[in-house]
Amino acid sequence: MLYLIGIGLNDEKDVSVKGLELIKKADVVYLENYTSTLNCSVSQLEKFYGKKIILADRELVENDSDKLLKEAKEKNVALLIIGDVFAATTHIGLIIDAQTKKVKVEIVHNASILNAVGETGLFLYQFGKITSIPFECANVKVPIDVFNNNYKLGYHTLFLLDLKPKENKFMSINEAAKYLIKHGITGSLLAVGCARLGGKDQEIKVGSLKEMTSLKFSKYPQCLIIPGELHFIEEDSLRRFK
Ligand SMILES: C[S@@+](CC[C@H](N)C(=O)[O-])C[C@H]1O[C@@H](n2cnc3c(N)ncnc32)[C@H](O)[C@@H]1O
Repeated sequence: MLYLIGIGLNDEKDVSVKGLELIKKADVVYLENYTSTLNCSVSQLEKFYGKKIILADRELVENDSDKLLKEAKEKNVALLIIGDVFAATTHIGLIIDAQTKKVKVEIVHNASILNAVGETGLFLYQFGKITSIPFECANVKVPIDVFNNNYKLGYHTLFLLDLKPKENKFMSINEAAKYLIKHGITGSLLAVGCARLGGKDQEIKVGSLKEMTSLKFSKYPQCLIIPGELHFIEEDSLRRFK
């Protein structure tokens, strides 16, 4: 059996009761550690879950998934995913592979960055297509096109920012804002920067996109939003973070 368990955004205690019960009865526990990062160490997770955790990199989850699925045919294998299982495009491939190979799969959901941005007060229903800004972005146009299309329709745009947790490397809101302005997005547009949402030390700041190039955010991971048309309740809500 393969259990894909979302473990939430912040620390060891964000796991659901259902998720924790399955982790405790698993024979092997992996932590997918390349699409996001938690606000606690692996040893804190191990202590709270009472289980040894094996780190699973992109190679194991995406290219060497046969190994994982073979194991899941004979044992209860839990793959822990920071945030929610479906808030990264990478896990659906594993689920399809598992089902093709007749490995049973159970999913346990949790909070994700995709709903935590609701903390800003922006209505989740008003977000358009989500886009990611990669580290090597000098010649990348997709995030710009996504923004332009969303903005034309009045939708908010969420920019996810690249990270390599293994190397402790995270793209900052400052870098992302510089990239967007360099590629033609107007610096006077309103923007919302969010750092480490879900943690006690989360930061939300509202200002112009130009201000986002230098505003200080001290925590990671970070993401950036450029709102589209605002309802008056959204305007009131954003004012709290100016
Ligand atoms: C692939 S996505 C999220 C995957 C995760 N499975 C989830 O459900 O949240 C990873 C990106 O989301 C953003 N992100 C994730 N957690 C965040 C947090 N707590 N605060 C701010 N941004 C976050 C960052 O831009 C990061 O690079």
